[in-house]
This record gives sequence, C-alpha cells and structure tokens, in this order.
Amino acid sequence: MKILITGMAGFIGHAVAKHLAAQNVEIVGIDNLNDYYEVSLKRSRLADLSGLNNVRFIEMDIADRTAMVALFAEEKFDKVVHLAAQAGVRYSLDNPHAYADSNLVGHLNVLEGCRHTKVKHLIYASSSSVYGMNDKVPFSVTDRVDEPISLYAATKKANELMTHTYSHLYGLPATGLRFFTVYGPWGRPDMALFKFTKAILAGQPLAVYNSGNMQRDFTYIDDIVESIVRLLDLPPSAAGVPHAVYNIGHGSPVALMDFIRAIEQAIGKQAICDYQPMQPGDVPRTWADTEALFDATGYRPQMGVEQGVANFVQWYRGYYGV
Ligand SMILES: NC(=O)c1ccc[n+]([C@@H]2O[C@H](COP(=O)([O-])OP(=O)(O)OC[C@H]3O[C@@H](n4cnc5c(N)ncnc54)[C@H](O)[C@@H]3O)[C@@H](O)[C@H]2O)c1
Repeated sequence: MKILITGMAGFIGHAVAKHLAAQNVEIVGIDNLNDYYEVSLKRSRLADLSGLNNVRFIEMDIADRTAMVALFAEEKFDKVVHLAAQAGVRYSLDNPHAYADSNLVGHLNVLEGCRHTKVKHLIYASSSSVYGMNDKVPFSVTDRVDEPISLYAATKKANELMTHTYSHLYGLPATGLRFFTVYGPWGRPDMALFKFTKAILAGQPLAVYNSGNMQRDFTYIDDIVESIVRLLDLPPSAAGVPHAVYNIGHGSPVALMDFIRAIEQAIGKQAICDYQPMQPGDVPRTWADTEALFDATGYRPQMGVEQGVANFVQWYRGYYGV
C-alpha cells in the first residue's frame, strides 16, 4: 500500500504520517514549506518523521502542474490524503491569490493525478467554515452550505464541488472531511490556542474577538487522525457517485472564555484579555453533527478540552523551552 500525503509538514499531515507509518504502508509526503507561519516548525515536524524508513519527503508545490503529473505517474499511489492548502480565514482577506493557487489549482492537480492513475481512494480536507453563518445547530452534512463568508470557505466548498464532479465523471472514490477547529501538540501558530498560550506565558494581552462571545467545536488532533485512518479504509460505494462528505468534530461547542480558562489552568497563570470586535469572515459558533461519521466508522471523537489543552501546553513548553 502506497499513500501520498500532501501537506505532510503541516499540523494534521505530520500527525497522519506518524500514525500511518506505524502500519505496514509506504508513505510519500509532499509540502512546499511556505512561510505562512514559521517554517522552522514545519521542518521540525519533518525531522520528527525522518527516522521512519517507510516515510519519504519531497519538497513540491501542489500548484506545479508539471511536477504533479510526473509525481503521480512515477509513484502510482494506491490512496491519497490531501491536506495541503492555504488555511486561515483572516489571511484570505489580504492574500486571496494564495487560496486560488493552493486550494483551487492545487486541488485540481490532485484530482487529475488521482483520475489518471486510478487512485483507489482520495481523502481531502474541507472545513467547518463552509457552514458560514448557518444558525441551525448542530451543523449537519445535509444542511445547505451555499453562503460562505470568506474566500477560504468558498475554496473549500469549491473543493467539494470539484471532487463531486470527478467522482461522477471518472468514478473516483473520494471522501471530503469538514474539520472543526483542530488543536493539540505540534499545532498551528496562527490559531487561538497557540497564540493564547504564547501570550499568557509571556504575560502579554491576548486578542479575544467578539468580546469572547464565541463558541467552537474544538477537535483534538488524535481524534482527527483516528477518523482519517478509519475512513481511509472505507471508500464510498461505487454504486451511484462515490463521493462522501463528513463532519470531523468533537460534537460539542465550547465557549471561548471556557477554553481560555482551560489554558490558564494548564499554565497556572491568568490571561490578560484584550476584548476586540468580531473579525470579518469569522463565524460566532461551530458545532458538528457527527452522526454520519459514527454510522460509517463506529467512532466518535473523544478528547475533552481540559486534557487536550493540557497536552498542548506540555508540548509547547517542551518545544520552545518555556
Ligand atoms: N487545523 C484546523 O483547524 C483545520 C480546520 C479545517 C480545515 N483544515 C484543513 O486541513 C488541512 C490541513 O490543515 P493544517 O491545520 O494541518 O494546516 P497547515 O497549514 O499546518 O498544513 C498545511 C500544509 O500544506 C502546505 N501547503 C500549503 N500550500 C501548499 C502548496 N501549494 N503546495 C504544497 N504544500 C502546501 C503548508 O506548507 C503546510 O505545511 C488544510 O486543508 C486545512 O485547510 C484545518
């Protein structure tokens, strides 16, 4: 079994590679190591995988059409876990072209590679942001998601549409995963947990948007990995269009202020909160309906925020030596 992981130097890609490497599979990981956030962290994640002899890394941009055609033709992957993307809602306001290149052109290159080399299952990252301002909760995969409020969300919804088309036209078995605010060790510096931990440890104020009146369905990295690994063995049935979409979330929204309390507790120090207005493109609440995931895999994400945040803080202090 040979698996391609795109975005392997990223938060989720690194964790998936590490887990799959312990099974009897050959992994090829690609990433362009862009500087959206600290490149040294991406390199450290790769270094963490470097001792594994069934994991290979190639520095490559998924928007590079020629390189992607050659990669798929040479390697002939059985399955693909496609996680490379330009992430982040706020960054998309100032850098729209990064989203077109990685999330639209890059995604098309992955689809074309899968189509022409008859990949048996493509798993790709969508996002809870496709639900936009939907006020029916919990968010279900059967809800209407036609009103994204950021370009990032629009590209993720576009990925679902593009993939559906390829599944329909070419019978490509594909599964889209709408991840809900993923957190945990080796996490992303642009996300709240990372920023809050850094600010509290440094005794600096943290920007709390919408005056703290937000809720997120925080999902621990191990639960994300377990869901991906289980679904990888469950390509959608060839009867009809072999394309499925799942929410991958914990299934319980947590108030932002409670999340901050959990960080304070894990660090043993109080936060200085700088309350700010709602940010454009942000949504006040996310909450995953995880029934479809449970029906397909028998698995429900399990980690609660107190333990999950404590695990992150322990990793952060060790990694940065603070
Ligand atoms: N972390 C979350 O909370 C979350 C939530 C919803 C969706 N997602 C999606 O999950 C996926 C993985 O997210 P993550 O948190 O690991 O993000 P990440 O930014 O840590 O990882 C993405 C990786 O892809 C790489 N990359 C970006 N553009 C590339 C390109 N053009 N070519 C090659 N590599 C490229 C980056 O260098 C990075 O290492 C992304 O598609 C993201 O949109 C994440």
